[in-house]
Amino acid sequence: MSATVVSEIPEATGRWFYGHALELRDDLLGTLVRLHRQLGPVFRLRAMNRNFVVLAGAEANMFVAKHEAECMTTANHYRRFGRELGSERFLLALSGEEHRIVRRILRPGYSKDHVTKRMLDLTILAERTAARLGTGRCNRPLDHTRRIVVDQLGLALGDRPAGHMVRDLERAISTLLRVTVARSLPAVALWDPRFRRARARMRNLVRCAIEDHRNGRRAGALRDHIDDLLAARTPDGEPLAPDFLEASAHGPFVAGLDTVASTLAIALYALCRDPALRARLEAEADAVFADGPPTTASLKRAKTLHAALMETLRFYPVTPVVVRTTTRPIEFEGYEIPAGQDLLVAHCVPHMLEEHFPDPEAFVPERFLPPREEHRARPGIYAPFAVGPHTCLGAGIADVLLLLDAAYLLHRFEIAVPPEMGPLALRYDPVAMPRNLVLDVVRERHPAPAYVAAGLE
Ligand code: HEM
Repeated sequence: MSATVVSEIPEATGRWFYGHALELRDDLLGTLVRLHRQLGPVFRLRAMNRNFVVLAGAEANMFVAKHEAECMTTANHYRRFGRELGSERFLLALSGEEHRIVRRILRPGYSKDHVTKRMLDLTILAERTAARLGTGRCNRPLDHTRRIVVDQLGLALGDRPAGHMVRDLERAISTLLRVTVARSLPAVALWDPRFRRARARMRNLVRCAIEDHRNGRRAGALRDHIDDLLAARTPDGEPLAPDFLEASAHGPFVAGLDTVASTLAIALYALCRDPALRARLEAEADAVFADGPPTTASLKRAKTLHAALMETLRFYPVTPVVVRTTTRPIEFEGYEIPAGQDLLVAHCVPHMLEEHFPDPEAFVPERFLPPREEHRARPGIYAPFAVGPHTCLGAGIADVLLLLDAAYLLHRFEIAVPPEMGPLALRYDPVAMPRNLVLDVVRERHPAPAYVAAGLE
């Protein structure tokens, strides 16, 4: 796979007991970028009692993209997660050939069409939350973005807006991820009655949606994620097994809720901090809603907004690493990594390297616009949705939701970052969430468009 093995893998010296656990929790990407600069593309790192080899940099991304399927597994990290949702054959828990086959079966369910065909309804759902926002200080923007996204994912993927379930979904998914993937909570948290109730409600929501689809109770409804799962066939021509179908139907909530909601909340901060940038984006957002419900074409014209969201995903990627385990010894950049070694693939480290993104600490949407288009300079440098066989299946859906929701909120409100708020702090557990984010809704810029207000009645 690479040149001759020459060296011992360098080790990052962390604190006694914690290792690098606290730094990784509070500044995951910054810590990995710093260690990458000191130690190179391969280094050992300890977080509490977990020992990782980190792969970081553009070459590492290319290596993982090319070789993951033949020498790495996700099973140790996601199988338990899948089991808690009813099936160990959860997409993220599969590797190699089995993963490739299942991903191909599930791919149609993640088609961007599921959101682009419902643009008006998705805007009406954004308004449901916007209408409750009011002017003044917003102390927990993430609560609002979560509610918007959970409503929209519920509609587009199972024909059931799920905003009323936001607390249950948040508790169930974050507890599962923290116990089984991040391991920042002990397994006993899975016995907490509050978690068990939340998970039961989430599973019931998904089961009822599947039942409605099976019983044809949705005359005239647009095709959605669950229709695609019910229509899917295994290579033997069989329908999906019920437990696998049910676990898979949770996929959009599990993978899409916190990632999109947190990115949207962070984007509002990043886009509204600079009044000149905000004014440009507001003008683009107004144009999206000027001539009737938003369309793919009207969203496409919001070019600076799209670039600003790409810059948000560069600067504040909410999932900047993924975990893997080697299934056999691998060689990379002159190092040999043994079989059975846990890896941290730090796919977003290139985002913050001067050689790929000049002045990386500056938030500059123009770097994604012609003529700069810095992300296109070479493969492997821009990867907010990861690299390799498990690259995000919902990236197209995420792009549309982020663009639509950011445009709608900028059209409806003037949003400002209070001067007393310090630099944005994140907490990674495992998805990055804003810790200290506060926004001011200064005034309503426009009422809900008539076509949206009509849909609310
Ligand atoms: C800003 C938003 C999002 C980000 C940053 C993001 C990021 C990621 C990352 C890094 C992975 C790889 C995880 C791993 O290998 O361990 C992933 C996988 C995945 N994502 Fe996303 N995601 C986002 C939104 C979504 C949405 C909205 C959906 C669905 C509607 C979705 C569905 C999936 C699925 C199904 C996988 C598993 C793919 C596989 O195992 O083959 N994601 N995502």
